[in-house]
Amino acid sequence: MSQLHTPQAGDDRAVDDDVVGLLMRQHGDIRNLFDEVEASQGDARRDAFRRLVRLLAVHETAEEEVVHPFARRATAGGEGVVEDRLAEERAAKEALAALDGMDTDDPQFLPRLKALRTDVQEHARAEERYEFTHIRRSTDTAGLAAMARAVKAAESMAPTRPHPGVRSGAANMALGPVAAVVDRTRDAVRRALGKAD
Ligand SMILES: [Fe+2]
Ligand SMILES: [Fe+2]
Repeated sequence: MSQLHTPQAGDDRAVDDDVVGLLMRQHGDIRNLFDEVEASQGDARRDAFRRLVRLLAVHETAEEEVVHPFARRATAGGEGVVEDRLAEERAAKEALAALDGMDTDDPQFLPRLKALRTDVQEHARAEERYEFTHIRRSTDTAGLAAMARAVKAAESMAPTRPHPGVRSGAANMALGPVAAVVDRTRDAVRRALGKAD
């Protein structure tokens, strides 16, 4: 059976082997977590927000380490497209770190979260449109799978669901603030790519 790079929603095996499918699923998970933070309050909001912070930090770091360098080399006009995406990611990480220091019950929290959400979603749409489609076209199945392995190594640090029976505070403190999540994710991705430094 020939292998097409067109995973269906919910087809985890196909997504596991395809870096584009995997990153698009993460874009969906990020959208859902924004919904969850906005719809909850108190401890539930704090917990959902911790998961959002972690997934966003892990996702953007994995893209910076895995797909942007590839798109820069392998796609026509890749240089400019990637520079724009990197600038958006830097801005998102700064906004995320600022929000991360805020009380989720602060009246300023929701307006700032919504502003970040708008930026993050525009950024994701630009990636899907200008970068991911070209990556699919210019990469074979083995290349997509190799990049997917590196993104999955990063993803293992960002559970999107709360752990049953584990107090969320302790579980979520384990990786520390945004900068620490980014550093550890980068190490995990580089190890998976065989580039341990
Ligand atoms: Fe990104
Ligand atoms: Fe992304």
